[in-house]
Amino acid sequence: MVQEFAPPTTEWYYPTEEIVTNAHVPDYDAVYNDAMQDVEAFWAQRAQTLHWFQPWEKVLDSSNAPFYKWFVGGKTNITYNAVDRHAKTWRKNKLAMIWEGEPGDKRTISYWRLNQEVNRFANILKSMGVRRGDRVTIYMGRIPELPIAMLACAKIGAIHSVVYGGFSEQSLADRIEDAQSRVVITADGAWLRGKIVNLKAVVNEAIHRSPVVEHVIVVKRTGHDIHMEEGRDYWYHDLAGLPIASTRCETEEMDAEDPLFILYTSGTTGKPKGVLHTHGGYQVYTSTTLEWVFDLKDEDRWWCAADPGWITGHSYIVYAPLILGATSFMYEGAPDYPYPSRYWKMIEEYGLTVLYTAPTAIRGLMRFGEAWPNRYDLSSLRLLGSVGEPINPEAWRWYFEHVGKKRCPIMDTWWQTETGGFMITPLPSVGLKPGSATRPFPGIEVDVVDEDGNSCPPGVDGKLVIKKPWPGMLRTVYGDPDRYVKQYWSEYSRQGWYLAGDSARKDEDGYVWIIGRIDDVIKVSGYRLGTAEVESGLVSHAAVAEAAVIGVPDEVKGNVIYAYCILRAGVQASKELEDELKNHIRHEVGPIAVPSHIEFVDKLPKTRSGKIMRRVLKARAMGLPEGDLSTLEE
Ligand code: PRX
Repeated sequence: MVQEFAPPTTEWYYPTEEIVTNAHVPDYDAVYNDAMQDVEAFWAQRAQTLHWFQPWEKVLDSSNAPFYKWFVGGKTNITYNAVDRHAKTWRKNKLAMIWEGEPGDKRTISYWRLNQEVNRFANILKSMGVRRGDRVTIYMGRIPELPIAMLACAKIGAIHSVVYGGFSEQSLADRIEDAQSRVVITADGAWLRGKIVNLKAVVNEAIHRSPVVEHVIVVKRTGHDIHMEEGRDYWYHDLAGLPIASTRCETEEMDAEDPLFILYTSGTTGKPKGVLHTHGGYQVYTSTTLEWVFDLKDEDRWWCAADPGWITGHSYIVYAPLILGATSFMYEGAPDYPYPSRYWKMIEEYGLTVLYTAPTAIRGLMRFGEAWPNRYDLSSLRLLGSVGEPINPEAWRWYFEHVGKKRCPIMDTWWQTETGGFMITPLPSVGLKPGSATRPFPGIEVDVVDEDGNSCPPGVDGKLVIKKPWPGMLRTVYGDPDRYVKQYWSEYSRQGWYLAGDSARKDEDGYVWIIGRIDDVIKVSGYRLGTAEVESGLVSHAAVAEAAVIGVPDEVKGNVIYAYCILRAGVQASKELEDELKNHIRHEVGPIAVPSHIEFVDKLPKTRSGKIMRRVLKARAMGLPEGDLSTLEE
């Protein structure tokens, strides 16, 4: 008989004894306390589970803090740990990836095959002159060649910069330019909601705006007509047929601190930040967190329903599951296409055991009602996960009752692009409270503090800080070390704490409740957008003199964007102009940044120093009191 959770109060949910005793970490408190006794020894022990060409001399070097170094002197390669080593054991016959395209086509790739595909891709990159330390931009939909391209870059020591396929021309051009990528990997298109997303057209325009690119490798996915530039663009299938594309390739022995990838994310200015992660610490951190939090075992079929273009996909579709030798499922398209049953149908069909997705997706599917999940056999599931934004208790309960059938604990994982992996999260042995990401992962020390750095008492809001370095932490902002120091380490520089940029509160039990961002970052459907990015997109239109955008709560998306624009003299406000501006943002930034509402105004509330008071706009949009207006100019 299936045991159910036995909540002693409506607030608490405890995992069953069966789940706890079979978990990698059956006693969270014991492991946490033990790890905190000697954090370096703890991480060193975790690193021993991986392959090192040469052992490290020092676990952590803090001599140049906050430019921390982990596993100093160690030689390794994340692709060796994710692919090469499994292709030499019994796992060579195991499925590394199961994939389903939106139109319903399917692919399965064993570790043996994956190794060959990665080698082939790596040899093609080498033949294009890509060397250690070179940056390669990847702009694709969710198809197996995306992880393969990432792993191939890492294998030869190139630094990948994956740009989410929902970004548009200018965003892609900015990221290519910042990374100075000479090679771009893309696909002709991607399937989304039954339509083709014309990726190659976006790449063509982006390269026009950022002409550093010399070669483009194009994977054929949709087969529609595209423009291929002679001498610059090559079909992947043509290259793969050449003798240079051998399935054998040496893996570069990388220094533990050599860069693995750059991932651009939004911050407080319009220019996206290139968050940099390295080979050594990142592999230890992502694999440990996945193994312990989702209790991954060889027989699992793990589904992280994110996009590899975001950190969630980097860490938990690609690297961590493969390092653990797991089977990772990936799906190309929209959750409700062609019907709202798509997710549930695939869970049944492939016997998926863990589902990790975002609250926005859960809320989106919840809208269609529980008849959809109830029609399918979801008994293969044993754990569920949530990421990207706070999960509201209503969505938590729906997920718990109708997807997990009250059997599957929900791991609400709080983390960031910068942290590399889960930071505050339950383990399957921890009691859950819907809406709380619970407690820090072993080895991680977090706190909620006031302006002066004093710990806030239970129930009081403060700033979320991380008090000790961890192996998965970002190492710098690519090309901008000052920004790295200023953004993350200056607020509590005396104490040497990392500022997460979120506000939070702890409760009497030490559980952390994330409230939201304290900076100008808006989370739309779990995607991270900077107000400045959208604003600079708006003012790049000839009609707009000034713009301010805010996030306003939305039932499904978490937040939607409201934009306020002052038009240039002589320009008339109209519905047509509003539509034109929305379309403009779609092209300048991407569909995810399109405001749901644009209002034309004569003035914007500003401080005397000229800073826009978004708080006032937000209060007005939400019909709340506007608060202290003493700093308002007029
Ligand atoms: O505000 C927090 C929110 O997402 C931010 C990080 O965004 P990004 O770098 O895009 O990474 C998202 C995927 C890891 C955080 O500063 N956030 C992330 N997870 C949670 C969350 N807020 C509440 N609960 C979470 N579980």
